[in-house]
Amino acid sequence: MNLKNKNILLGICAGIAAYKIPALIRLLKKQGANVRVLATQAATRFVTELTLSTLSQEPVYTDIFPDSFSTEEDWTKHISMGEWADMYVIAPATANTIAKLSAGICDDMLSASFITLRPNKPKLIFPAMDGEMFTSASVQRNLAWLSRNGCTVINPESGELASGQCGTGRMPEPEAIVKIIETTETTVEATPRLSKLQEKSIVITAGPTREKIDDVRFISNYSSGKMGFALATSAAKRGAKVTLVTGPVHLPTPEGVDRLDIESTEEMDLAVKEHYQSCDIFIGAAAVADYRPANYVTGKLKKNSKTMEINLVRNPDILAGFSKQKKKHQIAIGFSLETAGNLDNAKEKLEQKQLDLVAYNTFDGKTSGFEVDTNILTLIDKHMNVYELPLLGKHEAAERMLDIVEELINSDK
Ligand SMILES: Cc1cc2nc3c(=O)[nH]c(=O)nc-3n(C[C@H](O)[C@H](O)[C@H](O)COP(=O)(O)O)c2cc1C
Repeated sequence: MNLKNKNILLGICAGIAAYKIPALIRLLKKQGANVRVLATQAATRFVTELTLSTLSQEPVYTDIFPDSFSTEEDWTKHISMGEWADMYVIAPATANTIAKLSAGICDDMLSASFITLRPNKPKLIFPAMDGEMFTSASVQRNLAWLSRNGCTVINPESGELASGQCGTGRMPEPEAIVKIIETTETTVEATPRLSKLQEKSIVITAGPTREKIDDVRFISNYSSGKMGFALATSAAKRGAKVTLVTGPVHLPTPEGVDRLDIESTEEMDLAVKEHYQSCDIFIGAAAVADYRPANYVTGKLKKNSKTMEINLVRNPDILAGFSKQKKKHQIAIGFSLETAGNLDNAKEKLEQKQLDLVAYNTFDGKTSGFEVDTNILTLIDKHMNVYELPLLGKHEAAERMLDIVEELINSDK
């Protein structure tokens, strides 16, 4: 977009990165843009109104209620701001303001104008904060809501932060922000957009499987099913018809989801095969047992020797089975749980099993992997695009993952 004569609302919040904003205003003005600064009250403690108004050649707008009403427009400035703008850029966006915007609070000029912005105008949000704040469940939930509702959220960069620690949370430099603004179209799709998953039929496997040794013992793993259930919840909210095939877990059935409870990998395989033809997307999030005891003993196996050998045989590879027969329009997605940071294993799985997307899942036993509520995922699609997600709650990770699945559907159109 050529910025000449474009009307840009620039919202500034009380983050340390506000020190970069005077330089951003200068660059935008140099390109011929008209810039109106909407600063939160707290932001004016980080950068002075005098600097901002001198550079933008406009007053700085903070309060909805001006000191005096000299013209008729002053009464409804928060509305005329939204009408005036071709684009709304919020940089830096603090955790506090992000929460307000996602909740629809409009108690200052920045947040009120966000709501009055005409529906087809772009909204760019540049979160900037400490790494722990950025990856917190609430900030991620609020950002996911904003991006689902017509905002473009530009993820902060990783590196050294104002706190002196390293992490993800640094706002891009003013030059990079200008480039992003320039590549943004002045009008965007009317919001909220319809999900590409609307009416799609999705089969998701979740949880562990149990492979019986005898009537009272089994081989299994620590999978809780949380990631698969989070995906089912998010997909159903996007209007998909979701069938969740799950091993034994202690989780309630997400609203609007058809649930099939199974126990062994073979049972899961059979249940999934029922949907081979009808489903559009298959997501293998279950931690299926690769092997099962060759012989199942009825009753209870006696302990009459010091050691015991159990012969194991391979279980069916459910994901590979689906991929092998999948039609052109169908999408296969798998998870690759690795204890060591080896992305190549995940890439190999993507290729070997002919997947469209693989979620490489690091297992550290604390924040990522089985049982816990958070996950660190790196997603690799069939075009070898790599998306590194930060530490996120499993529901946020599911949202991000489905956003990428929707992009995959778009790219294949
Ligand atoms: C020195 C200092 C630096 C801060 N930096 C940030 C920041 O980078 N990001 C953030 O979200 N909050 C930051 N905060 C906290 C916000 O200033 C605080 O939440 C404030 O209420 C946000 O107000 P606003 O959203 O109305 O601008 C910082 C606070 C201080 C004291």
